[in-house]
Amino acid sequence: MRTRLCDTFGIQYPIFAFTRCKEVVVEVSKAGGMGVLGAIAFSVDELEPALAWIDEHIEGRPYGVDVVMPAGIVDAAPPDLESMIPEQHRQFVESVLARFNVPPLPAGDPAWNGLLAWVHSQARSQVEIALSHPIKLLANALGPPPPDVVAAAHEHNVLVAALIGKAEHAQRQVEAGVDIIVAQGTEAGGHTGDVSTMVLVPEIVDAVSPTPVLAAGGIGTGRQVAAALALGAEGAWTGSIWLAVAEADTHPAVVEKLLHATSRDTVRSRSWTGKPARMLRTAWTDAWDAADSPGALPMPLQFMLTGNAQSRMHLFADREARELVGTPIGQIVGEMNEVRPVREVMAGLVRGFEDTVDRLDQLTSKVGSPR
Ligand SMILES: Cc1cc2nc3c(=O)[nH]c(=O)nc-3n(C[C@H](O)[C@H](O)[C@H](O)COP(=O)(O)O)c2cc1C
Repeated sequence: MRTRLCDTFGIQYPIFAFTRCKEVVVEVSKAGGMGVLGAIAFSVDELEPALAWIDEHIEGRPYGVDVVMPAGIVDAAPPDLESMIPEQHRQFVESVLARFNVPPLPAGDPAWNGLLAWVHSQARSQVEIALSHPIKLLANALGPPPPDVVAAAHEHNVLVAALIGKAEHAQRQVEAGVDIIVAQGTEAGGHTGDVSTMVLVPEIVDAVSPTPVLAAGGIGTGRQVAAALALGAEGAWTGSIWLAVAEADTHPAVVEKLLHATSRDTVRSRSWTGKPARMLRTAWTDAWDAADSPGALPMPLQFMLTGNAQSRMHLFADREARELVGTPIGQIVGEMNEVRPVREVMAGLVRGFEDTVDRLDQLTSKVGSPR
């Protein structure tokens, strides 16, 4: 499974793992892949200690950080953004929670930070912190990172990756100085376009050659890693499968749902952030798709509107909010049927890849044989 990117990063397998959990980052990198910490949900004060913890535990293995700097998003100050949220939407959120009798947050229990780091001012602070640690990769979702961010990363010898879902955007990313393109198909969990991995990856490989491409979306077995490499990718970028590993901090009620979900139990919904994101289908996503829904607000307003509700759904996930609680997740959830440690998942991907390549080798030798 050796590709150029193994040498670039000094990793054994070109398997990249997006996760918001620092323990998973460390375990993936120690198992020969490359853990990438999703920084979006970390405040600036939380990110520094999380990266320090990784540095302390990762035994010198390479890792990366992922930020979200959406192209063209408003970058207003929080009070101004708050005033842009219509009262009708606030009432709708309360009415959905009331339908399930979800209690308010107990006094003193802080709600999730609704603004997160979607706005560039916050993401830039995260980039600054990330670059003060020995990271090897800075990834960005939702458009090419601004030129000064690319330049700062390169000054620190950090390569830049960007996630894209449309071949039309590929060349623009390379021109913006992005070193690695993550071609993410519609199967993927989180923000996603509408073209499948099978179609998108070769399109993007051809569009940006010789820039290396990682395939993302729907990769959870060694067979799928082999398929990604067959399509011309130089590695796999995975996300969903790390939500149900033993080291993950996913809420147990959510893990339970993931283990039982099939590949048809996801939906592309704007209810999370305002941009289409693939998520577990729940009573919450259904409510936003129903006829009486006011429709999602544009990013970053939707998560500001729903951050408090998300906190309540997670706090009461075992009780009143059982039907509402969910997570972004890809169609590969249908293959996620047991909780296993990261090391075992990685070993399974490698073994599955080798079996697949052996099987394909036999096919070619049969075709070539006169008997
Ligand atoms: C819970 C969850 C949150 C995600 N959040 C982000 C994010 O903040 N930034 C990002 O670049 N990608 C994010 N993604 C997408 C992943 O980086 C990755 O491309 C995707 O999970 C790959 O497809 P898969 O889910 O089929 O493995 C997220 C995915 C999931 C499942």
